[in-house]
Amino acid sequence: MNRAHPDLDSLAFLVGTWKGTGSGRYPTIEPFEYVEEAVFTPGPGKPFILYRQRTRRAGDGEPLHSESGYIRPGGTEGAELVIAQPTGIVEVHTGDLCGSRVRFRSRDVRLSPTAVEVSRVERCISVDGHTMLYRLWMAAVGQPFQVHLEAELTRV
Ligand code: HEM
Repeated sequence: MNRAHPDLDSLAFLVGTWKGTGSGRYPTIEPFEYVEEAVFTPGPGKPFILYRQRTRRAGDGEPLHSESGYIRPGGTEGAELVIAQPTGIVEVHTGDLCGSRVRFRSRDVRLSPTAVEVSRVERCISVDGHTMLYRLWMAAVGQPFQVHLEAELTRV
């Protein structure tokens, strides 16, 4: 059966393939612009959404960040997110759902021995029709918690 699990109803607003552009900044790096493709796929008959994204630098198309993970319903008005990054960073989040907006706050960030230091991450995703806006904050490399990414994607 390929039907989405009924427990995914509250997260269905995320499902689809999304493309768009974003910008990034942090005190320790040069600001940058990027293009992104993100795909949210319901697990067939299972209560999770598979999430994958990849990005390229705007202009020269150089591959930048990519990541993949799972979003799970997390009880009443809640959600959970687990993400692995090829840079050796793993994030475990719980999220608050409010209609078609979810804000994930990291419960745990774990690093492989050679990963850059990241201690806290928050990700806010909101969908209005076929437009997704997200913002990501992090505390990393000794800097206080602040915005790293902002993007606007369109469901294709
Ligand atoms: C759309 C996704 C993302 C893009 C396009 C992106 C892009 C970048 C770029 C271009 C840099 C500059 C240095 C470099 O080229 O490596 C950077 C640095 C960094 N990013 Fe991201 N990033 C993304 C997501 C993330 C996420 C999810 C995290 C952590 C949760 C993260 C953590 C960092 C850290 C810690 C640095 C290094 C800062 C430093 O060394 O001073 N990034 N990112």
